[in-house]
Amino acid sequence: MTQTTELASERTILDRPEQRFPLKLAPEIPHIRSLFHASAKNQWDPKTDVDWDLLDLSQYSEEQLRGAREFWSRRAWSEYGAISESPALQIRFCQDRLEPDLQLYFTIRTQEESRHAEACHMMAEKLGGYIEEPYVNVYEKSVSTHGVRAMALDPNTPLEAIIAALVCAAEEFAFDVFKHLYAIGTNPVSKQILRLVMRDEVRHCAFGWTFMEHRIKSLTPEQIKKVEEAVIVMVRDVELNGYHRAWLAPETPASILEVEADRLSCEAGLGASVEELDIPVIVATVKRIRERMKPWGVNLPMFNHPKIGSL
Ligand SMILES: [Fe+2]
Ligand SMILES: [Fe+2]
Repeated sequence: MTQTTELASERTILDRPEQRFPLKLAPEIPHIRSLFHASAKNQWDPKTDVDWDLLDLSQYSEEQLRGAREFWSRRAWSEYGAISESPALQIRFCQDRLEPDLQLYFTIRTQEESRHAEACHMMAEKLGGYIEEPYVNVYEKSVSTHGVRAMALDPNTPLEAIIAALVCAAEEFAFDVFKHLYAIGTNPVSKQILRLVMRDEVRHCAFGWTFMEHRIKSLTPEQIKKVEEAVIVMVRDVELNGYHRAWLAPETPASILEVEADRLSCEAGLGASVEELDIPVIVATVKRIRERMKPWGVNLPMFNHPKIGSL
């Protein structure tokens, strides 16, 4: 069977036999190897590295606490997204027999996402109780999967398209959201969690850009087009649909409740932001990603959102 026929018969990369040896473990992308070492050195524990005793709930109204519980629960849902998708990417790195630095780094990156989910879950619990699902499940579409799992196992989707969309785009959005929330928040515990999460997210973003810089020159024009399409889908259908920001989700009774919860949490300084403060942040993120991808031949169009206009 020729290589092409073999590929054509594959439904997912799992249909390919595993070939482990020769197993190369020496560094091949030194910067990614150094991110792995930095992650190993900077581990933290949500139980002991956050001063939970500083969380004085007596100064907040019942309504504000309800809003903050909703916000921190939603934060946990979006961290869970990263946990549920990472193993598929790890399989892809192994099946494609890529540079070992990717495999070493991604194991620890997944741990970091687990830590983020745990910290957000603990915060919601301390605020009165973690909420397991959106108010009405119609909002679920905005906060559920990016579709990365299926893409990662699909032999016809270039890995670069997934990393550019999931890491270079989505993690940059996430980082800017955390930075903004840290700047406008006042609650010391909320700020500590955001700072710890941000410290990890810097490395997650660096991983994506380093990987892409390493690979971009070897991509064909068709593959670059696929990278472009994947990033457009991530920005337009995931981020601008409210993945990290409830106020961007299509207006429904459910999303209105989520936005209201964010407003209460934001006014209390407990986390979350509101449309009027957040618009300049997302506009700047889109602009920066567009500029940074341009030299790759990836041209992001202007996007439109009814609450922002053109961005
Ligand atoms: Fe995270
Ligand atoms: Fe991340």
